[in-house]
Amino acid sequence: MKLVLASRNQKKLRELQEILSELGVEVLSEADAGVDVDVEETGTTFEENAFLKAHAVMEASGLPAVADDSGLCVDALNGAPGIYSARYGGPGLDDVGRYQLLLENMRGQLDRRCRFVSAICCCFPDGRRVEARGECPGTLAYAPKGEDGFGYDPIFFVPEQKKTFAELSAEEKNAISHRGRALALFRRKLEEA
Ligand code: IMP
Repeated sequence: MKLVLASRNQKKLRELQEILSELGVEVLSEADAGVDVDVEETGTTFEENAFLKAHAVMEASGLPAVADDSGLCVDALNGAPGIYSARYGGPGLDDVGRYQLLLENMRGQLDRRCRFVSAICCCFPDGRRVEARGECPGTLAYAPKGEDGFGYDPIFFVPEQKKTFAELSAEEKNAISHRGRALALFRRKLEEA
């Protein structure tokens, strides 16, 4: 079976290829499938946005398509930045600017509980849908630590490991991360579909 990944992110493509190749699934990029779809993420949940992306690429390519939507939800901020994680603070900020803004908005706040969330959706041309959600709980650090990873990794502290995501190896992170968990569940559901 062939699946198109609704994303331009090469890291996501490789990750999905590795996990699904064991099932005999071939994961194609949008370019491989001859489509280039720009989807507005107008949903109000991770699940809705993952569906919007997967559905649009499935329609354009005529092939089953998979998408993920993810972000960081902070309890004391009522779940923000959440689905807006990639755009927190507006277009002028980079990854470092975004996590610094988050630390600033959490200054003096003692309740540091937060979690990463990942929602995966696969849409098939016959109307079937396979969905999976993964979460990873943690606490927000007071200052960034670690060099690896991307996004909010340097300020996401995992109490069990006593390290931030940015201090973990890719293997260590994948074993417990929201995306790793969602992908493992997605793989099991795909086998049953
Ligand atoms: P998406 O690619 O539209 O789902 O955007 C997800 C955004 O959430 C990214 O741009 C990051 O800011 C953040 N994010 C999601 N997963 C992670 C992660 O594993 N580490 C750090 N930041 C993440």
